[in-house]
Formats: sequence, structure tokens, C-alpha cells
Amino acid sequence: MFGAETLDHIAFPVRDLPRAEKFYLEVVGLSFLTQRKNADGSPRHTYVKAGDNIIGLNLPGIQTKASPSGAPRYAIAVGSEANFHTIVQRIKQSGVIYGEIRDHSSRSPFLRSFGFTDFDNNHIEICMNRQSLGDICLSHVVLEATNLERAKRFYSEALGLRPVGEDYSETFFEFPNHQLLGVKPVAALSDRTKRHGRAVHVAFNVNQDDFDRMLGLIPALGGANQGDSRAEDGLRPPGERSIYFSDPDTNKLQITAHGQEDWSLISNEEKWQRIIENRQKSGRGISRFDRGVKPS
Ligand SMILES: [Fe+2]
Repeated sequence: MFGAETLDHIAFPVRDLPRAEKFYLEVVGLSFLTQRKNADGSPRHTYVKAGDNIIGLNLPGIQTKASPSGAPRYAIAVGSEANFHTIVQRIKQSGVIYGEIRDHSSRSPFLRSFGFTDFDNNHIEICMNRQSLGDICLSHVVLEATNLERAKRFYSEALGLRPVGEDYSETFFEFPNHQLLGVKPVAALSDRTKRHGRAVHVAFNVNQDDFDRMLGLIPALGGANQGDSRAEDGLRPPGERSIYFSDPDTNKLQITAHGQEDWSLISNEEKWQRIIENRQKSGRGISRFDRGVKPS
């Protein structure tokens, strides 16, 4: 059946990497995967994991207030009642701004949820879902939409997600494995949606046949294909295809159809060597940012 298969990874902006690492590892209880570097060896982003899902904490972050709509929002599902309450307790004691534990209706995909705003003004949620996703994993993301009907068509027809109705004025779509994506109607996009932050995106896995169909459907339904900078830099293994793209509201997304090999975590040194070689061949350099020179 046509449609994106999983919500695979996300990245959101952080301004202080040690602070964000400490918070997501010690308070939220995620696990450390690796810290990625710029060409000069300075920190670029850290990958932490919620179960099998990678979450990128991306420098340099953005200086904007929290979005008034509550989106973009990133949600992590935990499987057990005990874990949910332990994590919520730690978050309440951490100094972040948080909301109430919410119980959801019997028609909702969620049993209960707890939202907070991290030290970098990202909206984050811990939830328990009606369809359990295991011990811990990415549950859903909620993105802003200025035209709900257009967004519904985009996510149901271009990405093939199954509409599952509304919950607290957000419209949800389900992946076959019961992860979800929500859209929140807004009169105008928040600064956080408009400014994104470097390499901030939400990534889905798709199969090879659906990838081809999506290449046509994404622009036809109001999205914009932004190509694949990693392929240009020689970082895609044989058979792996991917594009970065925007939905009709400029939310940054990615679809990837995997091949046989996974090169996503080749060493920093190897990665920059390949990028520099490939860019020299095509007559391009690397940006000041990629070298590690920070904007003043
Ligand atoms: Fe990605």
C-alpha cells in the first residue's frame, strides 16, 4: 500500500549543546549516540536516541520565542505508566516551563500526554499512546498549517498517511506502525516555523516504489523539492535515495528509501574528506559555517 512507512528521525534547534545534551540524556532519559563535528572539529550537532529513533540537537539554534500555537512540537512515547511518571517528575524538577498531564478522549490516539518547553524554546511532549510503540520511541510531530485542507491533502495524498481525526484541535495522520503526524491550523506561521534553524527537519522512511511516486506528488500538492545535498557530497550509499523538501507551509521534511548499506554514521573525518573531494570536483567550496567558523 502506498505511503510513508515510519517517522524515522527528527532534528530541532539548540543554542547550547552541552546544556541540551545534559537535559535530553539525564532529564528526558534518552540515550547518547554520537556528537558530529564541523570540518574544523568544533561541535555541529549531537544525536540522541529514543529507542531506534535518532533525534538531532542542532547548533547553532535560533533566537526566537516559543511558538504561540504549540507547534512545531515533537513527541516521545513511552510504553509504561511508571516510566511516564518518572520522566514527568524529572522534567517538572528541571526548571523548564511545563503544562498539566492531559488525559485524552477514548477516540484519541493518545492516552495521556505532558507538554513542556525546553531551554531552547522547543515544544516537546512525553506521551503514552493507545497503540503502544514499545518502551520508548518517537511518537509524533505536530506542524503548523495555514490552510488545513491543503495540509490534509498533502499528508494524505502526497505522503499517503491515514487520517485518524482530530485531538485538541490538531488533525492527525497515522503511519502503518502507529506513529503519527499532526497539523495545527494557524492564522500565520510562527517565527519558529519560518526560521527553522540549520538542518532542522522531520524524516520519513519510504519504500523505493513509493519514493518515485512521491517525487511527483510532493510538488503537485504544494510541496517543494529541495534536492539531496548529501548525495551531491558523495555521502549516499548505492541504492539509497533521499530528498529534503518542504510541505505547503514550509515545514522541512525528508523522505529516504534505503538501499543495502547504511553510511549515515561514517566518521567525521571520512565525511568531511568525501565532502571536500566532491565539492572540489564540482568546483564548489565549503561554507564558512561548514568549516566551523561561527557567525558573529
Ligand atoms: Fe535526515
